[in-house]
Amino acid sequence: MSNSQAFRAIFALSIVLLLLRAHVAESSRRGFRRRSGGFFEYSAISCRAHTASVTEFGAVGDGVTLNTQAFQTAVDHLGQFGSDGGSQLVVPPGRYLTGSFNLTSHFTLYLQRDAVLLASQDEDSWPVIEPLPSYGRGRDNAQGGRYISLIYGTNLTDVVITGDNGTIDGQGAQWWQKFKKGALKYTRPYLIELMYSDSVQISNLTLVDSPSWNVHPTYSSNVIVQGLTILAPVTSPNTDGINPDSCTNTKIEDCYIVSGDDCVAVKSGWDEYGIAFAMPTRQLVIRRLTCISPFSAAIALGSEMSGGIEDVRAEDVTAINTESGIRIKTGIGRGAFVKDIYARKFTMHTMKWAFWMTGNYGSHPDNGYDPNAYPVIENINYRDMVVENATMAARLEGIAGDTFKGICISNVTIGLAKKAKKVPWTCVDVEGVSSGVSPPPCGLLTGEGSESLDQGCAFPEESVPIDSVGVQTCSCQGGHW
Ligand SMILES: *[C@@H]1O[C@H](CO)[C@@H](O)[C@H](O)[C@H]1NC(C)=O
Ligand SMILES: *[C@@H]1O[C@H](CO)[C@@H](O)[C@H](O)[C@H]1NC(C)=O
Ligand SMILES: *[C@@H]1O[C@H](CO)[C@@H](O)[C@H](O)[C@H]1NC(C)=O
Ligand SMILES: *[C@@H]1O[C@H](CO)[C@@H](O)[C@H](O)[C@H]1NC(C)=O
Ligand SMILES: *[C@@H]1O[C@H](CO)[C@@H](O)[C@H](O)[C@H]1NC(C)=O
Ligand SMILES: *[C@@H]1O[C@H](CO)[C@@H](O)[C@H](O)[C@H]1NC(C)=O
Repeated sequence: MSNSQAFRAIFALSIVLLLLRAHVAESSRRGFRRRSGGFFEYSAISCRAHTASVTEFGAVGDGVTLNTQAFQTAVDHLGQFGSDGGSQLVVPPGRYLTGSFNLTSHFTLYLQRDAVLLASQDEDSWPVIEPLPSYGRGRDNAQGGRYISLIYGTNLTDVVITGDNGTIDGQGAQWWQKFKKGALKYTRPYLIELMYSDSVQISNLTLVDSPSWNVHPTYSSNVIVQGLTILAPVTSPNTDGINPDSCTNTKIEDCYIVSGDDCVAVKSGWDEYGIAFAMPTRQLVIRRLTCISPFSAAIALGSEMSGGIEDVRAEDVTAINTESGIRIKTGIGRGAFVKDIYARKFTMHTMKWAFWMTGNYGSHPDNGYDPNAYPVIENINYRDMVVENATMAARLEGIAGDTFKGICISNVTIGLAKKAKKVPWTCVDVEGVSSGVSPPPCGLLTGEGSESLDQGCAFPEESVPIDSVGVQTCSCQGGHW
């Protein structure tokens, strides 16, 4: 063998050895990951010093064992680290049947890929709690309280519920049937509810078949909801996607929602209870939402809006086979206001109405509502939208003696369906301006100022405070679970 042949043979051998080593390292890394939960990274508003797996507290992901106690014990144990760098509870792959449990502060719940929380269908797994003070009674049922949410927290700070697209399955079918039959004693539970909390992140999860609403941040501030896939049959009752309720500074981004009710429903309390509680939803941004909801809205404002709704900005929304793109729902008795609403860059396909305003929504908690509590609806701006296959362009119905004012619609093209209604716009008790809208809007929207609307309707350029909340890359070095 010549020198150069020997050199080539040694060179080739080294390459083979190197490849072999890399392969062994890769397989053992994968093996470690599979055996142990291993190492992973995710983004969050804060990272944690302490980590545990729910299996260390006895949870069994066999789909049968009830794990409520394991989850609650784990959270209660990890709660002690709140002032010591916080903690994260990891749910490894498996199907974990559980009833409701409560979260703690400076805490992260992390669902790995293929981890599924299965909500118990046994009503006894769901403690009954007081109705929300801004609602006065449970939303479903005049009697007493409501079943607590599957994942619940109150008076918390710095809470993260996230994962590598792990799943929370509400197993709602049985609840929907009982609700339709009037067979439930209390209002149905939600999947996630955080009350009176600050600095909340709910992200990168899949939520399916909630008994009722899916995500309900209420009386909270600095809330980030991102990367959720929310799925429920389009005929399931009240399976709203995300309902920010009396919240300040909230961001909802990159969510895909198919549901039996509004994909995003912005709320703030109900009639006299909401008026007395007086806590608005404000500084809300919604971006990159995709919604399919044939019997409801992509974005609804109300109907419970008695604490007021203001400064809502929605952009890059896609609605497909959805009843309406944006709907304002209110009525006499609600009081308060919906104002400074901005929406742009919506794409809609197969809609009943692109825009809908309902001034006679009805639905009161009781007969104690104030018949003189008229809501103020003003400064509503919609621009830069393309709609295809709509049955009607819009149905805008204000309240007699309480005109919905300052409506502005610009650069909106609405393609009507073959079987469209003859009159594409119906408008009563509304007034505003429009420009570059086709088909041409009703006369009530071509008021003074329409001609000089060259810049289009307003959309604020300055950012909301939630946009300056940074996320960090957190890592988790798994234990031996
Ligand atoms: C969600 O996941 C995406 C893609 O995996 C990632 O880019 C994003 O940072 C995650 N966001 C949050 C808030 O967890
Ligand atoms: C969770 O908190 C609620 C309300 O504070 C309480 O009624 C319920 O019993 C708690 N659940 C558990 C499992 O401790
Ligand atoms: C939670 O905070 C609210 C508002 O500050 C307060 O009224 C309530 O008593 C607190 N609840 C608990 C359980 O601390
Ligand atoms: C998360 O899972 C859902 C349901 O399987 C899927 O539709 C969605 O595309 C997944 N999202 C990501 C980012 O992987
Ligand atoms: C248009 O909408 C109608 C319902 O109004 C629906 O039946 C039809 O399939 C839609 N057409 C297209 C092309 O999506
Ligand atoms: C009108 O809206 C379309 C669709 O969003 C957008 O591409 C276009 O730039 C808008 N035109 C103006 C003048 O803003």
